[in-house]
Amino acid sequence: MDPKLPPMCGIVGYVGPQSALEVVMAGLKRLEYRGYDSAGVAVLADGGLAAAKKAGKLLNLEKELDGKPLPTGTTGIGHTRWATHGGPTDSNAHPHIDNAGRVAVVHNGIIENFALLRFELEERGHELASETDTEVVAHLLAEEFSSCADLAEAMRLVCRRLEGAFTLVAVHADEPDVVVGARRNSPLVVGVGEGEAFLASDVAAFIAHTRSAIELGQDQVVELRRDGVTVTGFDGRPADVRSYHVDWDASAAEKGGYDYFMLKEIAEQPKAVADTLLGRIDGSGSMTLDEVRIPAGVLREIDKVVIVACGTAFHAGMIAKYAIEHWTRLPCEVELASEFRYRDPILDAQTLVIAISQSGETMDTLMALRHAREQGSKVLAICNTNGSTIPRESDAVLYTHAGPEVAVASTKAFLTQLVACYLVALYLGQVRGTKWGDEIRAVIRDLSSISGAVEQVLGTMEPVRELARTLASKNTVLFLGRHVGYPVALEGALKLKELAYMHAEGFAAGELKHGPIALIEEDLPVVVVVPSPRGRSVLHDKIVSNIQEIRARGARTIVIAEEGDEAVVPYADHLIRVPVTPTLLQPLVATVPLQVFACELATARGNEVDQPRNLAKSVTVE
Ligand code: G6P
Repeated sequence: MDPKLPPMCGIVGYVGPQSALEVVMAGLKRLEYRGYDSAGVAVLADGGLAAAKKAGKLLNLEKELDGKPLPTGTTGIGHTRWATHGGPTDSNAHPHIDNAGRVAVVHNGIIENFALLRFELEERGHELASETDTEVVAHLLAEEFSSCADLAEAMRLVCRRLEGAFTLVAVHADEPDVVVGARRNSPLVVGVGEGEAFLASDVAAFIAHTRSAIELGQDQVVELRRDGVTVTGFDGRPADVRSYHVDWDASAAEKGGYDYFMLKEIAEQPKAVADTLLGRIDGSGSMTLDEVRIPAGVLREIDKVVIVACGTAFHAGMIAKYAIEHWTRLPCEVELASEFRYRDPILDAQTLVIAISQSGETMDTLMALRHAREQGSKVLAICNTNGSTIPRESDAVLYTHAGPEVAVASTKAFLTQLVACYLVALYLGQVRGTKWGDEIRAVIRDLSSISGAVEQVLGTMEPVRELARTLASKNTVLFLGRHVGYPVALEGALKLKELAYMHAEGFAAGELKHGPIALIEEDLPVVVVVPSPRGRSVLHDKIVSNIQEIRARGARTIVIAEEGDEAVVPYADHLIRVPVTPTLLQPLVATVPLQVFACELATARGNEVDQPRNLAKSVTVE
């Protein structure tokens, strides 16, 4: 691997009475969504350190450990990796170990000055076995430990010499009941149990053992012992920490009888949508968004909204734009976070930036919001992960209550992001007086009925699955939509790319005639998301014409239309019905068949649904 290109990865550490190997391996299983290019573990046992690491999925490491078991120990660390470039190998896999074989370290991030540090280490006689930036940390920790005999202190000293982004977890054979972690930028949370403690990139790794967690801040070092946890800054000063209770239970991170997490997460959508509304509507049906700590006076002064996000969250942002502009009359831009700061966007204290992220760790989104805050803009995060970096660095946060989303392809998080966006749009309308109380209550009523509508869609998905199976040998599927159906089309295409590895593209149906129509050929499947015939019926009529145009050129039309929309029937080779919903809310129901479609196509093509090739759920590199 090119050492300049950092892995992002999942990290676990454990100290306590249980077998560290078992706890760490179970934790890594929960974190495999963060990367699955290689995995490794190290345990302290019998006065020494034992490690195993293997390229490929965790299963390869499991097989390796079956053949060559490690001695049993009660202190250990582990790592599962997503390489950004180059072939991941056994030797580049973590943990990395010093020459004496006493210290082991796992890492998430990039150490930018590693080349100089490596050079200096080699000058001093160290032999480095891999090409990674991480390995220098193992050697530096060994050096510092030899003079201070305290792993936490050694970690603080080393961290002060590192540049870049890094989260590190280490053990040393001379401190057999200690695990030390350090955090800058990439996530790291602490789990505190009875006589045991955990470190992980995500609480999912330890919720089977404890739901009591501590958030680590930037530039902090944590020392884990069986009887407690000590947190300091890199400078050694005691740090203030925030403890919290994880309200997911262990079963939330299990497949619960489903073949794939994705299927379970699709099925959980009615609950996720309802949970995201919970506590945000008062007895009279009005909105109470107390969590949005940006004062009403400041929100009244806002003259522009800018939404930044990546991937599926970006599509949620595109849909939010329609609601925000319609309900608040504020201009709203939506931008891919990775493009945002590089074009020198116009931002000031009157700009409200909304950062949408399931994980709360996406580096592109984080960098975009940092840039916005530097320009004086207020940032509101919409996020699914309590205590993650994006909400921590924002002025306010509205959490989506989707529960843990494990499958790489986002489903329930997307629907809850939409709900949160609608709530924010209504809230802005309420605060700024562009929406009357009864109008807001009417939308809230509609939102409250969406959970049932999603349930209804889920109950009618068998024909969609059958259809998907018949298309398994196709190379291309196109998606068309208009208005809020356009981002839905983009999301449908993204799901298909991610899961089925098919060429899939989404278009604004009105753009068809300006180029994409040339792609239409005999039997090409085209999915069309049809707006409601009520209200904005002009859009409906136009898209019905589009369906006729593509069908006349041979396309096989797969039409998603509202119940009772008879106008589409003559032109639909396959018709997927969704319940009647207000136009702006239609994405909440129209996206669901597209998720099921992509999931079934992936299965039919023999792909791994939860862990699509080359992807990772949380991308903590730019
Ligand atoms: C990755 C995932 C996508 C996700 C995107 C944004 O690329 O594979 O499914 O939509 O990141 O993630 P976020 O956690 O910021 O919502």
